[in-house]
Amino acid sequence: MSSSGRYMLYHGLLLPTVVHTEQSLSYARDFSVQDTDVFAVTYPKSGTTWMQEILPLVLNGGDLTPVLTIPNWDRVPWLGTIKMARVSEHLPSPRALVSHLPYHLLPRSFHSSKAKVIYVTRNPKDVMVSSFHFHKMASFLDDPGTFQEFMDKFLAGEVMFGKWTEHLKSWRHHELGDRILYITYEEMVQDLRGALRRLSSFLGSNLSEEVIERIAEHCCFKNMKTNCMSNHSLVPQDLMDLDKSPFLRKGVVGDWKNHFSPEQEARFSAVIDAEMEGEACSFP
Ligand code: A3P
Repeated sequence: MSSSGRYMLYHGLLLPTVVHTEQSLSYARDFSVQDTDVFAVTYPKSGTTWMQEILPLVLNGGDLTPVLTIPNWDRVPWLGTIKMARVSEHLPSPRALVSHLPYHLLPRSFHSSKAKVIYVTRNPKDVMVSSFHFHKMASFLDDPGTFQEFMDKFLAGEVMFGKWTEHLKSWRHHELGDRILYITYEEMVQDLRGALRRLSSFLGSNLSEEVIERIAEHCCFKNMKTNCMSNHSLVPQDLMDLDKSPFLRKGVVGDWKNHFSPEQEARFSAVIDAEMEGEACSFP
């Protein structure tokens, strides 16, 4: 447990105690993964909520009922959370889950299953900006301090789920073969319909253009912002203060340019580039 009590240490990673316990994490470790399960894996603030909206629709042929009636944390639960332990038995098949965990901490049974993974990456500068604002509005996370202070913590991995670079690398060095699809937040912003076609083909959903269009329309930023099942307005204000910063904040690519000074950008890039040396890594 961290000194603030807001985080617990799990295999060297800081996890928020508001949604994780030793029991919920142990439940996830022993979770019985089915071959038809689909995991959307992200580093926090890379488009997890977006995937919680998209996945049920791609898997159910575009029926909007679940995304309009079930809160995202029950609809596509986070692996390892207290909620997931409660709702996983009741998920429709094929089950969709999200996770911020590194590859080696997925359920033991995942590794011998045929379950699929969609790994979403986002430019780390935009991830950090999004996370900075999130830390300001979420009382269950430590206060971020100044932007510079938060950047130091982010680069050192002293934030929930550790270093961005370690997360990415863990999901690149694995034995999943064609069980994993890599997609970027940026390509989803640029061409959501194209991204949906890739997802549909990867998951064998065989969606028609009409259904792709319906899903794209429902999952655009403007519409998700008004969906109370997805915009976190159901979370009590003392946990998430949407007046300080909405959860669906800007939904754009490149907001980092409004936050980083040239010196901060140079330092941030130097650290990330050094840690990602030898790894192909680019964002549209
Ligand atoms: P910003 O804070 O930059 O706006 P996560 O769900 O992993 O916590 O990520 C949250 C980020 O994804 C937020 O970024 C949020 O606005 C963005 N996001 C969520 N739904 C989106 C959508 N439909 N289109 C674009 N961005 C979206």
